[in-house]
This record gives sequence, structure tokens and C-alpha cells, in this order.
Amino acid sequence: MSASQELEKAATSYALEAVRLDKQGAKGMAITMYQKAIETLLRLAQLYPDYGLNKVYIQRAMAYQERIRMLQGVSAPREPQVENMEERQVEAAIEPSETKKDNFEDLILREKPNVKWGQVVGLEPAKKAIKQAIVYPVQRPDLFPLGWPRGILLFGPPGCGKTLLAAAVATEIDASFLSVDAASIMSKWLGEAEKNVAELFTTTRKIANDGRPAIVFIDELDSLIGKHSNEVGGEVRFRNQFLKEMDGIIDKGKKIHVYVIGATNKPWDLDWPFIRRFQKRILVPLPDYNARLHMFKLYTGQVTLSPDMDLYSLSRMSEGFSGSDIRDSVQSVHLKVIGEFFESGKAKDKLAKPRSICMNDFRETLETRKPSVTLDMVASYNRWFEAFKAL
Ligand SMILES: Nc1ncnc2c1ncn2[C@@H]1O[C@H](COP(=O)(O)OP(=O)(O)OP(=O)(O)O)[C@@H](O)[C@H]1O
Ligand SMILES: [Mg+2]
Repeated sequence: MSASQELEKAATSYALEAVRLDKQGAKGMAITMYQKAIETLLRLAQLYPDYGLNKVYIQRAMAYQERIRMLQGVSAPREPQVENMEERQVEAAIEPSETKKDNFEDLILREKPNVKWGQVVGLEPAKKAIKQAIVYPVQRPDLFPLGWPRGILLFGPPGCGKTLLAAAVATEIDASFLSVDAASIMSKWLGEAEKNVAELFTTTRKIANDGRPAIVFIDELDSLIGKHSNEVGGEVRFRNQFLKEMDGIIDKGKKIHVYVIGATNKPWDLDWPFIRRFQKRILVPLPDYNARLHMFKLYTGQVTLSPDMDLYSLSRMSEGFSGSDIRDSVQSVHLKVIGEFFESGKAKDKLAKPRSICMNDFRETLETRKPSVTLDMVASYNRWFEAFKAL
């Protein structure tokens, strides 16, 4: 687990504990736990200043701070400038007139994703399925008298482009993109899950009624509505409300463009009521030889390669690697070379350049790096796909 994942996990469990204590009326202990959650979230935001979710972490920390103030009985004068700035950044993408400022607004990340189809390497069957399900109906709804799917499930091994694909669709159809991260949703929503999920869909429908397509993207769907999720934060009510809302948008009579894209790497944790409402179920598999070759080209595009570099053999050597494995290995080779350059003292000369990256650098890295997806996992995804596929 990476440092950021660990921190995120810690923040989530502090928050869950805080909410639990809060509900029990154990004010003092709840405050302590909220404080720990805040500290962890802020550490996380400091660790990777450019990380996209930082906005959400900071907002969440502010929401907990607010809750602490309420528990302490202070009717809170908030620091208006900071607050407004944060909210504006998040809301800038759509509806400037949207002024609602309750809890719910803090919880969804709305941003204009800027991912183009071309940045998603390979995955042709998945792209095709998505075009048929979303892109064409948005362009010519008149050609779809029988309706079209509103729920799309992307599943497959970690790091192969599910999140990337969802973002690319939003860019392609110029949709509002409301991204909800399932793992922390229950703790963020402080026990008001079903009310807020209703509001999420109301907001989304409103955007779509104004003529602009809207995509609700729910990452890590399994952890939110999986068979094994615990009951700490009101998951059951959330589930039921979610199913109801899904039915509302699936209604074929309506021509509005609201889509729910769910992503999971544990599809087997979903049960039938959920699976059924995602009428399109699309496997996002590990990249094959050609896709890996493309990715190596893409990710080495900005570094200097020595003439002995052979991307074809790299692609052969990296069987089983995911897209993010490939990106990480290019990055780690690059960092190694840059590191050497600094350590040699040559970096002090502003005109000096680091040496180019050669095949041996990659050999060393690929030898020590295991693919993050095992053959067993691949087989499980294929089995699930065979059982539940709906292209
Ligand atoms: N098909 C792809 N084309 C280009 N880059 C990719 C692809 N798949 C993965 N990557 C790289 O790996 C990163 C992680 O991919 P992404 O977040 O889309 O994976 P995911 O399938 O959503 O994984 P997870 O299940 O862990 O959420 C991307 O930001 C991108 O840099
Ligand atoms: Mg993802």
C-alpha cells in the first residue's frame, strides 16, 4: 500500500469511528477522533500538493471542523474567504448560479475532466461499448425510440483505465462529471446517506434538465454497496435509496441524459439487484502486447531514450503489467537516472543534461517489479465477465 493509500485508509477509519461515537452521543471522544481524521487528511494533502483529490480532503477536514464546533456548542463563524474559494474551485465547472452550501455539496467532486479518448490506450471493445451506450444517444436521441442504458459498470483489474475511461466519456460528450468516491462516502455523509444520495440524483437530474448531460461516477462501487459491507454508516438505507434512484433514471420514457458509471475491481462483491441496474457491463482488461507497446511509447514520450532502447522487447518483457504498472516503471527508471545525475554533482551546471535512458535501466527495473495483477485474478475477471457480460 502506498503512503497516500495508508493515510487515506487511516483518515477513513478515524472518521468512521468519529461518526459512530458522535451518534452514540460520546461527544468528547468523537471530537478527538474527528481531530485525528482532520490531521490525517491535512497530512495527506501536504504530502502530494498536486493531487486532484486534495480539494475533497480539505473540504472534508473543514466539514469535520464544523462538526467539532457544533459539538462544542459554538455557533460557528466560518472563515468565509477560504471556504468560498474552495467551494468555487470545485463548483467552477458547472452552474455558477448553484449556491447551495449544505454538507452534500462538500462531498462530490465536480470537475471538468480533461481526458481525451486518445489518452486511453487500447480498450477498443470497451470504448465501442461506451460509444454505443452513451455517446450516440447523446448526439442523436431521436434515433433511440426504445431508450438506451443509463447504468454502466466498468470492472477489471486495478490500474487498467476504468477511471480514465469514465473521465474520457465525460470530456467526449461535454458532460458534467460528478465524481463520488465510495470508500469514504459513508463517513463523509455523517449518517445522512439516503437523504444525500437522493440529493445527488436530484442535482444531477437538474443539470441534465438544463440540457447538459451529466455523469455520476462512482468509484470503488463494491466497497459502497458490496455484499459484505458493514452497517456502520447506514449502508443498507443507502443501498435501497441508490437502487430507487437508479430505477428513476432508467425509466425509458424519459429522454434526459443522466448516466451512472460505476467502477469496481471486485465485481463478485456486487449482488444481483445492483448488477441488473447496470445494463452495460464492460470488462476493462490488462493491456495486451500492442497496448503495452503504445503505453511505453506514450509514457517515454517526454524522456530522452538512448538509441539502444527497444520498446518492442519492453512490451514483451512486461506481460501481465497494468497500465499503471507501466507508467510507474517508466517513472521509476526516469527518477533513477535523474537521481544519479544529481548525486554526481553535475546538476549544478545549469546547462548539463542527465544521460539518456537505456535498455539496461529498464531490465533492472522490470526484473525487480512484479506485475500487480496475477493470472488467477485475470481468470476470475474473465469468469465473471462470461457469467454477467452485457456489452
Ligand atoms: N488504458 C490506459 N491507457 C493509458 N494509461 C493508462 C491506461 N490504463 C492505466 N493507465 C495509467 O494508469 C493510471 C491508473 O489508471 P486508472 O486510474 O484509470 O485505473 P483503474 O482501472 O481505475 O484502477 P483502479 O481499479 O485501481 O481504480 C492512469 O492514470 C494512467 O496513467
Ligand atoms: Mg480507478
